Amino acid sequence: MSSMASMFAFFLFLFFLSYLWISRRVQKSDSRRKFPPEASSAWPLIGHLHLLGGSQPPHITLGNMADKYGPIFTIWLGVHRTLVVSSWEIVKECFTTNDKAFANRPKALALELLGYNYAMFGFSPYGPYWRQVRKMAVLQVLSNHRLEMLKHIREAEVNDSIKAIFELLGKKNMVFVEMERWFGYTTLNMVSRMVVGKKFGGTTTKDENEGNDKCRKALRDFFDLTGTYMVSDALPYLKWLDIGGYEKAMKKTAKELDQMVGEWLEEHKQRKLFGGMKEHHDFMDILLSTFTDEDKISSYDADTIIKATCLALILAATDTTTVTLIWALSLLLNNRSDLGFNIPVKSNKSSAKTSSQQRRGTHSTQYKLFSHKHS
Ligand code: HEM
Repeated sequence: MSSMASMFAFFLFLFFLSYLWISRRVQKSDSRRKFPPEASSAWPLIGHLHLLGGSQPPHITLGNMADKYGPIFTIWLGVHRTLVVSSWEIVKECFTTNDKAFANRPKALALELLGYNYAMFGFSPYGPYWRQVRKMAVLQVLSNHRLEMLKHIREAEVNDSIKAIFELLGKKNMVFVEMERWFGYTTLNMVSRMVVGKKFGGTTTKDENEGNDKCRKALRDFFDLTGTYMVSDALPYLKWLDIGGYEKAMKKTAKELDQMVGEWLEEHKQRKLFGGMKEHHDFMDILLSTFTDEDKISSYDADTIIKATCLALILAATDTTTVTLIWALSLLLNNRSDLGFNIPVKSNKSSAKTSSQQRRGTHSTQYKLFSHKHS
């Protein structure tokens, strides 16, 4: 009887092994069928990272790979399999018919430390929290109705910024204007007034109080740090080393930003409590009366949701718009003859690029503006 039992156990074990083997084979052929081609030359552990870190810019390396493997292929960024798409038809397919599969965002240390552990909805995973917060932002800030209602803020900020240049010109006859700063403050003031009812410093001079420049620097650092490729995101087992000291820098910037937005939140709460606020002044007021700790839309508390959402909007609007405007201005100034008229400005391009300029690929865009005295 015992030999019968061992025979049975042996066959059961054989059956189990063959089941494992077959299911592995099926999985493998399944994955071969589903996955696009994988670029060769991957190294163990780091994957294709060694190909992207050399002197050749990554887009050239990826372009050469696309010539070899076609418009859709995969590479390994450390432990992460990554899809590389270089045809608009496939991109369209990704973001239309397959949009749900691409609705999620990759995880990264910067988004955890600087993005309130993914409470900033631009970094949140696809799900009910992201849907609800996004809906609030669209309805209360970005809808046509709200944009029309808040038109006066945008107009006032553009007027103020132009007036600042005009006043300088009146005094000096000729001024240098750092256009990145001018666009940066104009955009920041516009969006921060819409979101938290705050205005930062002026656009043309650097003599504002220290606080404004500190805030703007923290916002700048946020972008530089979220745009930095962290070794530990590709190779999580190296996180403890904090190569480059970025984790430390992220924690410092996160603290500064949280302090800044925390003060705004406190002011809003006080106003709500003591000011007998009859109507909502800004988006933070609306969020304050919408989110409470009682309605559990996620594991985040109400303060975190409000701080993260307001900061997300300010950050998402400022750098993107500033960089786009800088590029537009650079292109216009570099093609002045195509415009059919000659603007008397001189570029004062500095040869050294700042780190943010390096990331954006732009030079310092400082232009000398001359006032025209009509004779
Ligand atoms: C030229 C200017 C802009 C550019 C090029 C730009 C670009 C983008 C891109 C590419 C994304 C997608 C990011 C992703 O899903 O991973 C995005 C998302 C976002 N943008 Fe912009 N943006 C601009 C201006 C603005 C402005 C003015 C605002 C707000 C006032 C804004 C708010 C947002 C928000 C909140 C998200 C996240 C949306 C979500 O998670 O569903 N952006 N932007």
